[in-house]
Formats: sequence, C-alpha cells, structure tokens
Amino acid sequence: MNTFNIALIGCGTVGGGVVKILSEMNHTLNERAGRAVKISRIVELNPENAIKRFGIQKEAFCGGGKKLTVDEANSYISDILNDTGIDLVVETVGGTGDFVFNLCVNVCKSGKHLVSANKALLAERGKAIFNAAEENNVSVGFEAAVCGAIPIIKTIRESFTGDEIVSVSGILNGTSNYILSRMIDENLSFEQALTFAQEAGYAEADPTLDISGGDAAHKLIILMKLIFGIDVTMEELKYQGIQSISKTDMDYAREINARFKLICFARHDGDFIYGGVCPMMVKDENVLSGVNGATNAIRVINKYSGKHILIGAGAGSSETASSIVADILFIARYNDRMNRTLPNGKLKFKGLKDYTLPYVITFETEDRPGITGLVTTEIGRQNINIYTVTHNRHVSDKALFSIETQASTLKQINAAISEIKTKGILKCEPVVYPILY
Ligand code: HSE
Repeated sequence: MNTFNIALIGCGTVGGGVVKILSEMNHTLNERAGRAVKISRIVELNPENAIKRFGIQKEAFCGGGKKLTVDEANSYISDILNDTGIDLVVETVGGTGDFVFNLCVNVCKSGKHLVSANKALLAERGKAIFNAAEENNVSVGFEAAVCGAIPIIKTIRESFTGDEIVSVSGILNGTSNYILSRMIDENLSFEQALTFAQEAGYAEADPTLDISGGDAAHKLIILMKLIFGIDVTMEELKYQGIQSISKTDMDYAREINARFKLICFARHDGDFIYGGVCPMMVKDENVLSGVNGATNAIRVINKYSGKHILIGAGAGSSETASSIVADILFIARYNDRMNRTLPNGKLKFKGLKDYTLPYVITFETEDRPGITGLVTTEIGRQNINIYTVTHNRHVSDKALFSIETQASTLKQINAAISEIKTKGILKCEPVVYPILY
C-alpha cells in the first residue's frame, strides 16, 4: 500500500511529541498501520524550541527550520491543502478562533483526514467540522482531546458498542485534581496549591480554564455528544470550578469520609440527560476518590456490563501524543471502513439542579439555643431526608455545622435555604456541594 503522508500544523509540546513517537517507533508503527506512515510536512512559526527539545531535524520543517511569518505559514498551509499526496493533517495549533476553525474545516474539505487534540474547538465549534468531514468522506480523530492518553473515545466508539452507557462521571482535569489533592493531603489553601501546580508545570500562567471547570466542561460536552448524541453548549452546561473550596469545606468532606474532586457528570434517565461539572464530595467507596495528583479517571456505568473505570494521564507531551499517533494509525489502517457519523439522539439536556443527588450544606449561624432545630425543620419541610448532622463548631459568636442529606434536588435545597434566610440567623450564605457515591 502507498505511504500514508501526514502534515503537522503546530509543533509545540504535543506536536513535538507526535514527531518523536513517529520517529522512535517508526518500524513498529508501519507494521501496525499495514503501510508506511510518514510526517511529510511540519509547519511551525518558531521551530527552534522543537528542534532543541525533540531533536527534530531542521529540514523537516517547511522553511528549513527558520522562523516563519504568518504569511509564510499560511502559504505553506495552502500548499498542504492543495497537495493530493497528503492524507492526513494533525492540528496542534490550539484555540477556538477563526484561523484554527477554518483550518480544520478546510482540511476536511480538501479530502484529508484530520486529527486534533483541541477539545475547546471541538466542543464549541465541532459541529461544522464533523459535518465537513462527513460530507467529504474523511475522518476526524480526537482521542487526545479528552483525557490525553486515556483511550476513552475508542472505548466508547469501538468497545462499548454492544452495550448502552447509562452514566459517565469523571475527573477530566488534571490541574484541578492536582490542586485539590494537595489541598486535602497537606492542608493547603487553594492559592498555595495553585502556586505549587504552576511551579510543577501543570497549571498555565493563566490557569482560568482549568480551575473554572471550563476545560473539564469542554471534555464532557464531547463525551455527551459521543455517548448520548446530544449537542450541549457551554452556556447550557452549568460548570463550576474549584476556586471557592475552603479549608472548612475540606474538613466537612473528611468528616463524611469523602474527598473533593472536580467531577464531570452525565446520566441518562428517561427522555433526559442530566449533566454538569462541579466540585463534589466523593465518598471513599467510589474509586474516583482515590485518584489523586494530576491523574484523570472516568467511570462509565453500562446497562449490561456494569461499571468500568479508566485511569491515566490526561495531559503531557508524550502522553497526549500517544493518543494522536493511535488515531493516525487507526485511520491509516481502517480508512475505508471508518464510521464517521456521530450519533444524533432525541434526548433532551437538563442541568444537575433537576437531578436528585445527596448534598452537604454548611451553615454558619448565630450561636444560641434552637438554631440547629430551626435549620433542620426547614430542611424537613422541603421533604429532604437528613442523613446526618455534624457537631457544632463554636467559633467566637458563631456556630458552624453541616448537614448531609439523602438524595434531593438542588431546587429543594435552595427552597429550604430561602426559608432559613428569612429567620435572620445566618452569618453568611450557606455552602452547598453534591455528594457522589
Ligand atoms: N490542562 C488540562 C489538565 C489538560 O490540566 O488536565 C488539557 O486539557
């Protein structure tokens, strides 16, 4: 069979990893693909870093290893799109702007397969890209877009085809998990743990997307499309980050034998998919509570085959690149028989506020007789069954306690809180977190 020719657009941390794996494992990869797989072109504005870090030959770059102007890079990209000898383009440019969006659409329109790790682009503007791919009979590989090295996309698309996925819950952002793990294990504040995450190279200088839950939300949107066939926007998917979790919240989680995790959750129930991203207190009996550091994990519950857990690296140069290379090989090998259609279901999306989960509500109240009774009475009035009430911590003139509920909706919890507020006994807004068993 002919050589399978690849062009790489963007050769930074992940793109460089792709070149490294393809050159180090070349012989084996050719055998696995059933044909020679070769990077024929690399377009990178500033190749110097990749040359130094990954030992890539200057000649491998369009322009011979010199810095490119944007115009020069665009001209090389146009050559690639017009070159019928190129079979597949790997996009590791990143971002969601028009440049990268148009690049991905044009790759598909030019009849080339596309492989991308760009979760933000696929979650926010993926529909047009997948449509262009389907119309032009080419494939889009995006294993690396969700949890780096973990083969969750192929597991869903190829392995669970004989079953029905009922729910998915996961730790899909390594930076948040690293921060939370250090907060829990070393009693650090959020700010201290974030500084350590930045020093360790996990969090970016601007870590907003990671800690706000935005990056995890992008990944959940992709999973919900793939599993349940629904298109959910970032506006529809309520996501909450880890910035507001305090040491006190951590203490209450410990008290109920749980650990805080930033959880992506989606569950099929009747005609609806209930989903969201938020910090949850994950009980010790759930495997996800023991997944610490920058590691990612996904728990899938299937109708026929039950619970499955995938754990592994969600980021990193070689880790993410290994998934990109796997996509390249899969497309090179099965090109003619690929299923290119993403599911389109009739299910409707609802946020987690409509779903029943157990919650922990933490109250800071005036410290005088009868207050705990008043609070628990209002919770009972909303038909919420209380599982347990912690002892009161008496801090100067305040009482601090938390209530663990049995399954209820956030609507019920908020109704109870509204009633309690009218009593004028609260020192501040109660803090509410779901519990995951
Ligand atoms: N920044 C992400 C994380 C990896 O910390 O998991 C890329 O989505």
